[in-house]
Amino acid sequence: MQPVRKRPLGKTSLEVSELGLGTWGLSGDGYGPVVLPEVDRVLDRAVASGVNLFDTADVYGRGAMEKKLGARLPKDKTYVVTKIGTDLEASPAQKRFDPSYLRVAFERSRERLDRSPLDVVLLHNPTEHALAKTETVAFMKELEERGLVRAWGVSVGSVEVGRAAIRAGARVIELAYNVFFAKDLHALSADVKEHGTGVLARSVLAHGLLTGHWSPEREFYAGDHRADRWNSKELAQRIQQLDALRPFAKAEDVGTLRSVALRFVLANQLVSSAIVGPRSVAQFDQLEREAGEPPYLKDTVMVELAARLKAVGVEV
Ligand SMILES: NC(=O)c1ccc[n+]([C@@H]2O[C@H](COP(=O)([O-])OP(=O)(O)OC[C@H]3O[C@@H](n4cnc5c(N)ncnc54)[C@H](OP(=O)(O)O)[C@@H]3O)[C@@H](O)[C@H]2O)c1
Repeated sequence: MQPVRKRPLGKTSLEVSELGLGTWGLSGDGYGPVVLPEVDRVLDRAVASGVNLFDTADVYGRGAMEKKLGARLPKDKTYVVTKIGTDLEASPAQKRFDPSYLRVAFERSRERLDRSPLDVVLLHNPTEHALAKTETVAFMKELEERGLVRAWGVSVGSVEVGRAAIRAGARVIELAYNVFFAKDLHALSADVKEHGTGVLARSVLAHGLLTGHWSPEREFYAGDHRADRWNSKELAQRIQQLDALRPFAKAEDVGTLRSVALRFVLANQLVSSAIVGPRSVAQFDQLEREAGEPPYLKDTVMVELAARLKAVGVEV
C-alpha cells in the first residue's frame, strides 16, 4: 500500500493527509440513515489507511458525531476539524456567531471531542455580515492565542465570505470545490496564495453526481438533501454535462469518472486536503484507490477538460 501523501495545511503547523474523511453523511444527517457498525468500520478503515484529517461539525447528529470521533479516533495520529455557529436549541435553529454563544458551543465541542487543544475550529457558514463583526473574529483569534485551538478558520459558501475570512486572518477555509464547481476557489486563489491559507475542499463528488452512475430519473429519499438540490430538469442537464468528462475516464491510469473528479481536486496544489464523504467501507476503498497519484491530471489534460466543460456550459 502506498504511504498516504500529506500536504501542509496552509501556514498552520499541521501536515494533513491529501484525503480527509468528512462525516456529515456518516452522521445520518444529509443523506439519510447509516448503520452504526458501518460508521465505526469506515472510521477505523480511514485511520488504518493513514488518513489523519477528519471533518465534522457540532451539528452533525446533534453532537453525536463529535462524540463518536472523540471516543474512536487515536488522538496521537489524527486531527479533527470541527465547526460551530448553529444554535440547535433555538426554535427554529439559527445561526449565531456572537462570542457568548460561540464560547458555549466551543466548550461543548471540546468536551465531546475530548481533545485539548482542538485542532481546527471553523465558523460554520457565516454570512459576510456576521464575519464583519470584529468581536466574532477576535473570539476565534483569542482561542488560538490562548492555545485552545491550533488553527481557526471559516467554512465558506461564497467568494465574498471566503475573501472576508482570509483577509480577517482565517488560517483555514473550507469550501465546495469540484470539477463542476471550481469557480469559487479559482476566484480566491490570489488571496489564498498571498495569505498562505489552508484549503479544505469539500463536495468533491458534487454529492455523488460526479460518480456518473445516476439515471436522470433518480429519486432521493426524504431526509436526503439531494431531493431538494436539483429539480428533474436540472438533474437531467447535469447528468448530460458529465459526457464532457467521460473521455478522461478512459485513460488507462484513470478508469472512472470518480477518479477524474478526485484527481481534478488533488491536482490543485492550493488544496491541502480533499474532504471525501463515503458512507461505507466499500465507497472509502474506491475513493482511496481511485485518487491515483501525482501529477493526478497532467496540465494538458486540465486545459482540455476546461475547454470541454466550457463547451457544455460549465465554467472551470
Ligand atoms: N458547510 C460545510 O462545512 C460542509 C458542507 C457539506 C459538506 N461538508 C463536509 O464535507 C464532507 C463531504 O461533503 P459531501 O457530502 O458534499 O461530499 P461528496 O463526496 O461530494 O458526496 C458524498 C456522497 O457521494 C456518494 N459517494 C461517496 N463515495 C462514493 C463512492 N465511492 N462511490 C459512489 N458514490 C459515492 C455518497 O452518496 P450515495 O448515497 O449516492 O452513495 C455520499 O453520500 C462532508 O461529510 C462534511 O464533512 C461540509
